[in-house]
Amino acid sequence: LDVPQEVSTGTLPGWERVDEIVREAHARYAGERGGRVADYIPVLAEVDPELFGLAVIEVGGGVHDAGDALHPFSIQSISKMFVYALAIQEHGHERVRDIVGVNNTGLAFNSVVALELNEGHPRNPMVNAGAIATTALMPGATAVEQWERVREGLSAFAGRPLSLDGEVYASEAASNDRNRALGWLLKSYGRLAGDPDQIVDVYTRQCALSVTAHDLAVMGATLADGGVNPITGERVVTADVCRDTLAVVAASGLYENSGDWLFEIGLPAKSGVAGGIVAVSPGKGAAAGFSPRLDDAGNSVRSQMAIGHLSRSLGLNLF
Ligand code: DON
Repeated sequence: LDVPQEVSTGTLPGWERVDEIVREAHARYAGERGGRVADYIPVLAEVDPELFGLAVIEVGGGVHDAGDALHPFSIQSISKMFVYALAIQEHGHERVRDIVGVNNTGLAFNSVVALELNEGHPRNPMVNAGAIATTALMPGATAVEQWERVREGLSAFAGRPLSLDGEVYASEAASNDRNRALGWLLKSYGRLAGDPDQIVDVYTRQCALSVTAHDLAVMGATLADGGVNPITGERVVTADVCRDTLAVVAASGLYENSGDWLFEIGLPAKSGVAGGIVAVSPGKGAAAGFSPRLDDAGNSVRSQMAIGHLSRSLGLNLF
């Protein structure tokens, strides 16, 4: 049809300049070399550390990508926020709250001590112990069905079918002794139903889903948009689920550094060890970054800087 495309009016302040602001943030931090690529998952150590992508998606559907925004990488811990949302959607606020807490551990994301200090009750779903307990809540009679539910749910957030990065999965499955220990520790405290090895396997697969910075921004914008994917128009979760999820992400999304981040940038944000970060501004949209070099807490250095810049330039800070 020879009909002119309707131009999106966008929703962010100064939306006419968002493209330019995203490109500006990319150029500003392109030379930043701080941090180190994760190497405890062997295949991640081989990634090109120079990759750098940014994306902003508005709840009105505006799309703004820069740099390597379409370069695939594994979602890793960013999956935790979306699986948590699916768990609350399935079981409700109260039940999930009883099984996994909502407070920061103040400790590393893979800490065993944090679990021991709390009698095996995971303090929050953003660290590995809490995420494994959350994945166990996915519906399904078998681990295969649970994995399919995770994949379908995260694909609905992204607005396209996501697939497994088989190389990342195999690399992590061969080296995830600590996560398997966390699974068995949860089981020993009576806090995990089912076979810990199978649940950790579903968790390992969810972390190996392949996404781009653009995908992460769409997924985040779905939470910003009260649960409706702004690109596909599909309702993925309810607005209540988005509120619960974003509260927990604000408290613990960047692990022990979450308070610093909230103080400086003022947005719920979730990171993953492959270098992705997505920050969500409810009612406005989401900004995502991908850059593999990480700080000591496991958060992408350049993504944090660029998203901080975007938050300031676009007026996204919640406070
Ligand atoms: O379970 C793990 O250790 C990884 N699959 C995910 C950890 C992660 O992404 C921590 N984040 N920054």
